[in-house]
Amino acid sequence: MNVPAFSDLNPPTRILLGPGPGMTHPRVVRVLTAPTLGHLDPELLKIYSEEQELLRYVFQTKNEWTFALSGTGTSGMESALTNLIEPGDLVLACVHGYFGARLAEIAERLGATVDRIEKPLGQIFSVDEIEAALKKKKYKLMTIVHAETSTGAEQLHIKEIAAAAHKNGVLIVLDTVTSLGGIPVKIDEWDIDMAYSASQKNLGAPSGLAPITVGPRAREIIEKRAKPVSSFYLDLKQYANYWGGAHGYHHTASASLHFGLREGLRVIAEEGLDHTFARLRSNAEMLWNGLEDMDIPPFIPMEYRLPPLTTAKVPAGCDPHEVRARLLDEYNIEIAAGFGALKDQVWRIGLMGYSSRKENITLFLAALKELLK
Ligand SMILES: Cc1ncc(COP(=O)(O)O)c(C=O)c1O
Repeated sequence: MNVPAFSDLNPPTRILLGPGPGMTHPRVVRVLTAPTLGHLDPELLKIYSEEQELLRYVFQTKNEWTFALSGTGTSGMESALTNLIEPGDLVLACVHGYFGARLAEIAERLGATVDRIEKPLGQIFSVDEIEAALKKKKYKLMTIVHAETSTGAEQLHIKEIAAAAHKNGVLIVLDTVTSLGGIPVKIDEWDIDMAYSASQKNLGAPSGLAPITVGPRAREIIEKRAKPVSSFYLDLKQYANYWGGAHGYHHTASASLHFGLREGLRVIAEEGLDHTFARLRSNAEMLWNGLEDMDIPPFIPMEYRLPPLTTAKVPAGCDPHEVRARLLDEYNIEIAAGFGALKDQVWRIGLMGYSSRKENITLFLAALKELLK
C-alpha cells in the first residue's frame, strides 16, 4: 500500500480566544521538548512531587491526594464520580449549563439515581435553592460547576453551598476546569470534597492532564468501598500508590505533559495567585469595556461574570458564525459560538491563562470592529 507523501507539519499560530484550550505558555513549550523519562524514573518521581506541591498551591489545599490524571478534564469528571459512586447511590446534579448536565449524565451511566435541578443558561443557583433540594432526599453527593464554560457564569457562594451539603450529610464534587488558576479556588477554606480541573485552560499547558484533589471525607469513602471502582485507569487509590508510597506501576504517564504542567504551575506560583487573578481580571475588564464601546454588551451580569470566559451579545443583523469564521481565516483568532439555545445570540471569548494578554485583546477588538463595519 502506498502512503501519500504528506507535507511537513506546519499548523498556523492561532490566537486562542475560545473556551479552551488557552495558548500554551512559551516556557511550557520549551520544556515539552525535554528528553522523555520513564514513568518510574526517580527524576520523574521528583517532578511529580514538585507538581503536587504546586497543584496544592493553586487548589489552596493540603489534601495529600492531589494529582494530575492522565487524560483531559473529562477524565477528572469521570474519575471523581467513578470513585465515589456505587450503583443505586442518590446524586443531586445542579445544572446551570452544558458541563453540569454532562456530570449528571456520567453519574447516571455509573448507575446512580440522579435528580437534577436546573437554571436557565446564564443564571446561577442561590444557596437557598440548593439547600431546599438537598433536604428532599438522602443524597450521597452533589455536583456543581464553578465556572460554566458554556455560559461564562461563575457559580458564587461555593463555601455556603458546601456547608449546606455537609449539613445534610452530602459530599460536594466541584468542577474547576475553567476556574482553577483563573479565579480563586479555595478547596480547604470552602471544604470541598473533590475537585478536578484541566491543564489547558488557565494553567498554560497543553490538554492531556486533569489535576484532581480529594478531601478527607471523599478519601474515606474511596478507601472503604465495598467493591473496587469499575475503571482501572481512573482508580484514585492506584494513583495514590503511583504518585506516593510504593510508586507502583499503574500506567505509562506522559513525562512531557507533566514537564509542561509543572512549568505552567510554576509560572503562576512565581507571579503569585492574587497577582495572577488581579491581572486576569483587569485584562477581562479591558475586553468588557471594549465590547461595551462597540455596543456588544457582555451577556452575564458583572456580579458573576467570569474573567476567563466572556459571552457577548451578537449585534442585530450580524451573522455570528460568519464573523467567527472570518476572525479565524483573516486574523488567526479563534473565538467560539454560543452554546445550545445561545448559539446564534452570543459569542464566547476566552481569556484563559497565557491567552489573556493586552496585545491579544487589542488585536481582537480591532479585528472585530473591522469585520463589523
Ligand atoms: C467546565 C468544564 N468542565 C469539563 C470540561 C471537559 O474538559 P475536557 O474538554 O478537557 O475533557 C470542560 C471543557 O471545556 C469544561 O469547560
